[in-house]
Amino acid sequence: MGKTIHGEKYAEIKKLWAQGWTQKAIGKELSMSRSQVGRVLKTTVRNPLPVYSELHELEGNYIIVGDVQLPTTDWEFASYVPLVAKNFGIRKLVIAGDFLNVDSFSRYPITERLPAIMDEFAAAKELLDSWDDAFDEIEYIPGNHEKRFMRWSNGHLGMEVLGRLLDNDKLRVYSSTRIVVVSGGVSWRVTHQNGYSVHTGNVGGQLAHKFQTNVITHHEHSVGIMRDKWNHYTVVSNGGLHDEKTMHYVQEYDDTRKTMSQSFVMLDNGVAHLLTPYSSMTDWSVYL
Ligand SMILES: [Fe+2]
Repeated sequence: MGKTIHGEKYAEIKKLWAQGWTQKAIGKELSMSRSQVGRVLKTTVRNPLPVYSELHELEGNYIIVGDVQLPTTDWEFASYVPLVAKNFGIRKLVIAGDFLNVDSFSRYPITERLPAIMDEFAAAKELLDSWDDAFDEIEYIPGNHEKRFMRWSNGHLGMEVLGRLLDNDKLRVYSSTRIVVVSGGVSWRVTHQNGYSVHTGNVGGQLAHKFQTNVITHHEHSVGIMRDKWNHYTVVSNGGLHDEKTMHYVQEYDDTRKTMSQSFVMLDNGVAHLLTPYSSMTDWSVYL
């Protein structure tokens, strides 16, 4: 064996260490120096790697908003969120990523002065204050826009720092971009996925199949509710509370990109209600 310690040797060191062997004894057994064994144990046993696949599970009925894109938010539509929550006695909220634009740390070329990060925090505080009466618990998972914050700090400032800066005692933050909500015994994967299609439901349908669950997707800024191709699961594409009129990158040129659509979800007793500003899609007399 050369300088590299191969996988089998790592596994053997870990196994012997777990059995109570000393570093010296392991070294003797595997023809290694004591310090070599120490280095392996330091990185793999004493400091186990974080597990990124962990999936947090929530239980109960929730309002689910995502792609709020503060401060370029449709404030009027956002004001319907607490109204619906109050009418249906739902006291819990999930913010499913892209709550803030984090434009100050964008990598895209910017040709217009955009609101600074402190303006975004101020807008977030204002929105959370306006929802304060309605909710007791707010769960916040990141989207790709929150990741700009982490990227800027090389991962050193994560969601817990962002949560502290937002300064709201009801807010619980997660570093994972997905969370499971079990409502009325029905499981839903709420995700801010990395994947986009102009064909609404395409990405969501595949995620439902991949993870074998009902899904509520974000990030695509499109609205739809459907069954997956094999009729196993329900797939919701949750649009967002964004206001594209105020988004400079959307309005900068005439182009043939998809027009964004808006929605939020009420997850009540296992059923996802997709609430939109569109009268042909949402009968507000049912909800208000
Ligand atoms: Fe996104």
